[in-house]
Amino acid sequence: PQQKLIDQFGRTVDYIRLSITDRCDFRCVYCMSEDMTFLPRDEVLSLEECARLVKIFVDLGVSKVRITGGEPLVRKNALWLFEEVGQLEGLNELVLTTNGSQLEKQAQDLRNAGVKRINISVDSLNAERFKKITRTGELDKVLRGIQAAKQAGFENIKLNTVLMRGVNDDEALSLVKFAIDEAIDISFIEEMPLGEVDHTRESTFCSNEETLKILQSEYPLIASTETTGGPARYWRVANTKTKIGFISPHSHNFCESCNRVRITCKGELYLCLGQEDKVDLMPLLRANPNDDQAVIDAILASMAIKPKGHDFDLRRAEPAVIRFMSHTGG
Ligand code: GTP
Ligand code: 5AD
Ligand code: SF4
Repeated sequence: PQQKLIDQFGRTVDYIRLSITDRCDFRCVYCMSEDMTFLPRDEVLSLEECARLVKIFVDLGVSKVRITGGEPLVRKNALWLFEEVGQLEGLNELVLTTNGSQLEKQAQDLRNAGVKRINISVDSLNAERFKKITRTGELDKVLRGIQAAKQAGFENIKLNTVLMRGVNDDEALSLVKFAIDEAIDISFIEEMPLGEVDHTRESTFCSNEETLKILQSEYPLIASTETTGGPARYWRVANTKTKIGFISPHSHNFCESCNRVRITCKGELYLCLGQEDKVDLMPLLRANPNDDQAVIDAILASMAIKPKGHDFDLRRAEPAVIRFMSHTGG
């Protein structure tokens, strides 16, 4: 790469999270309100523009690209983008975060396109409760999606679970048991205050420290120094293939080692999940269809405004940021 992306605090950015749609076939209670409205299609980057942007970032030293949404796999022709990005030289890891609903159909094609790892959101193994949390999701379909991903040859499958007090906080052990039985990984994510949803985040907050204690009472866990390049800290479950990740924005701040920025489906480059600082790349892309320099300059300049970190505070009544998780892609 010609130039590295380094911010004012000396952190190197080598990971981009690209949201290719704000739409989703689920309506998870911590992510969306019941009556979400979505962007009109002409306000969203084309897949060609997405591919162009990723290439620009890879030339700037980015080695890991995570495709997110909304639910990325509900975007029409999403596979085309995976195939394009999968071929980029200089990219180490093309990875995907999904709710799993389309994996039964798409896992093999994604694997063939070069997707290395898949993270799948699963917050409950009880079908009725799963429906309650996702409002529209079918647990069975997601479980079949997980099997399809295994069959397609994905080795690094990871479940993402947001535990909420009084909702699914009694499932930590059963979810870990499921992960062990399936020989896959699982991460527990503390709920973050993005977008106004139909409950207050303080009321459902479930600390990862507590979850760790519960898991330790049942399983021999070994602290690990390994990283997947994201914010999780991992523990190995002894004598199994499973590692357990903890993403703890509240109980353990990880901003000091932040290596990532995110791009929304509108082409906004957000420098932090928990802050409003952003640069609008869509107009630059569209004004300069054949020359990347203006876009490159804007990305380089954005490093000066990457914030030190989020300041999530669950005691505040309002969400820390007004936009929903599905807008920024998590
Ligand atoms: P790996 O590559 O497997 O480490 O995945 P990841 O944790 O980077 O990505 P994933 O999409 O699975 O995200 C899991 C959770 O971590 C989501 O809730 C994200 O919103 C959250 N997350 C990822 N990066 C950040 C970050 O920079 N700040 C905060 N606060 N949360 C983040
Ligand atoms: N807080 C924490 N995690 C969230 N996710 C979505 N919304 C939130 C939130 N408010 C999770 C999803 C998915 C990942 C990308 O982000 O469960 O696994
Ligand atoms: Fe969809 Fe993921 Fe948000 Fe759930 S968390 S509504 S699956 S984008």
